[in-house]
Amino acid sequence: MSADDEPLDELLSAARAVRENAYAPYSRFKVGAAVRGASGRIYPGCNVENVAYPEGTCAEAGAIALLIASGETEVTAVAVIADSAAPVPPCGGCRQKLAEFARHDTPVTLATTEGASLRTTVGDLLPGRFDASHMDRT
Ligand code: THU
Repeated sequence: MSADDEPLDELLSAARAVRENAYAPYSRFKVGAAVRGASGRIYPGCNVENVAYPEGTCAEAGAIALLIASGETEVTAVAVIADSAAPVPPCGGCRQKLAEFARHDTPVTLATTEGASLRTTVGDLLPGRFDASHMDRT
């Protein structure tokens, strides 16, 4: 591990730790996420399922909500972790949620609890995304 990996390691550790708190009695698939704000602070989130299935929320959504509630507006890095065979990519809705507060080149690390990981960016996860310019008719 290089010195450059240290902040990322911290983000992934936060995602790994919060995953333990995930409420996933229906899918039994616990997910942990963490986003870093422009301040450098880390905001963790986990999935919170509901017996009315569509009411469940993803780990990424929880992390973003905490960042916004804490007064920040910019996501500078993202980590997601699950106990899966291959790193789990954020769902379509979470890609759009991340894109709202991140840049195209914002790094995203997807990891498994067994140590596999994959690095991508918010832009690569959501090419051709809907943005405010699409509502501009002038
Ligand atoms: N889930 C997340 O929290 N984040 C992802 O990136 C993928 C899916 C959750 C939603 C649901 O609680 C469970 O994983 C199974 O879909």
